[in-house]
Amino acid sequence: MAKYVGVLTAGGDTPGLNAALRGLGRAAQDVYDMRVIGFRDGFRGLMENRTLRLEGAALSGILTMGGTILGTSRDKPHKMPIGSRILDMTEVMVQNYRQHHLDVLVCLGGGGTIKNATRLMKAGLNVITLPKTIDNDVAKTDITFGFDTALGIATEAIDRLHSTAHSHHRIIVVEIMGHRAGWLALGAGVAGGADVILIPELPYDVNKVAEAILSRSREGKNFSIVAVAEGAMSLEEAEVYRAAEKAVEEAKDDESEAAAEARVAELDLAHVGHTMRLAAQLEQLTRLESRVTILGYLQRGGTPSAADRLIATRLGTACATYIEEERYGVLVAVRGEGTKPVPLPEVAGRLKLVPPDHPWVQSARFVGTCLGD
Ligand code: F6P
Repeated sequence: MAKYVGVLTAGGDTPGLNAALRGLGRAAQDVYDMRVIGFRDGFRGLMENRTLRLEGAALSGILTMGGTILGTSRDKPHKMPIGSRILDMTEVMVQNYRQHHLDVLVCLGGGGTIKNATRLMKAGLNVITLPKTIDNDVAKTDITFGFDTALGIATEAIDRLHSTAHSHHRIIVVEIMGHRAGWLALGAGVAGGADVILIPELPYDVNKVAEAILSRSREGKNFSIVAVAEGAMSLEEAEVYRAAEKAVEEAKDDESEAAAEARVAELDLAHVGHTMRLAAQLEQLTRLESRVTILGYLQRGGTPSAADRLIATRLGTACATYIEEERYGVLVAVRGEGTKPVPLPEVAGRLKLVPPDHPWVQSARFVGTCLGD
C-alpha cells in the first residue's frame, strides 16, 4: 500500500532546504510510489492544517533556490501563541496527522525542531528529522546542510574586510552567526585569516584580545580583523550564563524550569549589542579606530553551495528509503559518505559544540590567531 508522507521545515531558513525537499519528494514518489504533502510554516502549518502538495511541478526548479518553498516558523507544538495566549496544540497536530492518514512526518530542522519532533513522537506520531542549520551544531551528525554555504559567505566577507581594514589602519570586528556554537565563526575565521576569533565555547579576556592587536601593531601591522560569534562571551559573562543554564538543566518541575528559562532569555536579550560594546572596548584599550560589520541574515540567504546541495539531496533521498523500511523516530545523520539513522532521544536537547581541542582550534593557534583565552 502506498505510504503517505507529511513534511515541514521549521526554525531558521537554511540554504539547501529546497534541495532536501526535492530529494525526498522525488525519491518518495518516483522510486517508492509514496504520496507527499508539505505543511506550510513549520509546526504552525501542521496545527492549522495548511498544506501544499509536493509533487511533479512543485519539485521542479527548486534545487538551487535558497529559503524554503514551504515557509518556516519557530513555533513550538506545546507553546503555540494563539491570540493573546500560549497554548499546547500537540493534540490538534496529532489529529491533523491522522486526518491525512500519514505514515510519517518528516521535520527538516535544527536543535529546536528535533526537540519538537521528539515531543510529537512521544505523542504517538512516526517522525523522522533531517539536520539543517548554518550553525552546524546538531549532535551525532558529521555536518548539517546550510553550514557550507554560510561558511563561504562569512569567509568571503572576511576577505573583503581585509582590504578596507588595512587601508584605514582599523580594527574591524565582524559578527558571525552562532548563538551557542562557534563552528561558523571559527571556520570562517580560520579560512579567512582573521587575527582574532572569539567563540562561545572559549570565553575571552578582552585585555588579551587588545594585547594581541597591539602586538600586531608593534610588528607594523596596524589593522586587525576580529571574527566574533554572536554568542561569544567574556569570562565574566560566561560564568553568569553557565549558572543560568545549569538552573535549567537541574529544574525539578515545569514551574522552576520556566523561571530558569526566562532567566536565560533575559541574559540572551542583554547580550544583544555585545559586538558593538566589544569594538568600543577594543578601541579604548588599543587606541586604534574600530568598526563593526554584522553579517546577520546574509549568511542564511541565497543559493546553496554545491556541497550543501549534495548533502541535502543525499539526506532527502536516504530519508525516502528509511520511510520505505519504516525506520521511524530517527535523525538521518551524515556519516562519512553515507547516512546513519540515529534515535531521536539520543540527539534531542544535545548540541554539538566546538571541543576546546578541536583540530580547527589547534590550527588557529598554530597560525598565530588569538582566541582570547
Ligand atoms: O539557528 C540558526 C541561526 O541562524 C542562529 O545562528 C541565529 O542565532 C538564529 O538563527 C537567528 O534566527 P532568527 O532571528 O531567525 O530567529
